[in-house]
Amino acid sequence: MVNVQKFIEKAIVQIQKEAGDDKVVMALSGGVDSSVCAALAARAIGDRLVPIYVDTGLMRKGETDRIRTLFGDLNLHIVDAADEFFAVLAGLTDPEEKRKAIGEMFVRVFEREAKRTGASHLLQGTIYPDRIESEGGIKSHHNVGGMPLHMEFKSVIEPIADLYKDEVREVAGGLDLPLEIQHRMPFPGPGLAVRVIGEVTREKVEAVREANAIVEEYLVEEFRPWQCFAALVGQGTGVKGDVRLHGWIVAVRAVFSRDGMTADPLLLPYEVLTSMASRITSEIPGVARVVYDVTPKPPATIEYE
Ligand code: XMP
Repeated sequence: MVNVQKFIEKAIVQIQKEAGDDKVVMALSGGVDSSVCAALAARAIGDRLVPIYVDTGLMRKGETDRIRTLFGDLNLHIVDAADEFFAVLAGLTDPEEKRKAIGEMFVRVFEREAKRTGASHLLQGTIYPDRIESEGGIKSHHNVGGMPLHMEFKSVIEPIADLYKDEVREVAGGLDLPLEIQHRMPFPGPGLAVRVIGEVTREKVEAVREANAIVEEYLVEEFRPWQCFAALVGQGTGVKGDVRLHGWIVAVRAVFSRDGMTADPLLLPYEVLTSMASRITSEIPGVARVVYDVTPKPPATIEYE
């Protein structure tokens, strides 16, 4: 990494030059990349930056409130689109169809809101590895989350396009973003939907959201994994309060990785595993069973879908 403060100064000048006197719109997810871009652009152009946060209903527990607290000083647009997302997901069980439906809905909501803002530039948190990946496939211009936008912009501003993830984290530190953002685990674009096998319903997402919060509470600070989470992987029989229950099976996954391409499961202490399992089954009514996934990547991917 070059000098962080120098990078920040140069990025601010670049954004000012490209934006001119116009408004700039961006999709803010709260991950480290989009948070760094929002912080740079806010310093560069103030309230001519319009960050849009789409609440898909598939976000982690407390995410929307967290975004509001962190970025509420900006000209932040929070869009509650959960109903629309659950509507398009109804009846879909194929992982690729689910992903496609979420991506398309995201673009539709983002375009609708972006048009309203009257912005003429798009700011994107593309980083160097994304560029390499997209070179053979979808062009990164005019797209959000890999899906092409139908809108035209005067320019697409990509202030962190030459940085690797660890450099983005350093810049986040230089911008005084909270530690929680600097060290934030990767979270997939389709959100908790990839952590629910089969059809995505509100009830399942509620259960998996609670389970994810418990897993993060146990593991993030103490074990600093690359990623840790819970997924609803099916149903099985259990006994709760003397009643037999056909309840959810929650799989807990915690991995170390350098780049997400390969991963190794964490060797967690047995007491931690049993304590987590006990919290998950007692606090989430529909869960009857908790398992810990010990599969490396490959052969398993990190996420379940
Ligand atoms: P897998 O599950 O393929 O994931 O081993 C590798 C890394 O990528 C994240 N991931 C995604 N990120 N959109 C994203 O932005 C997606 O559709 C997506 N799928 C997986 C995953 O969380 C892990 O960090």
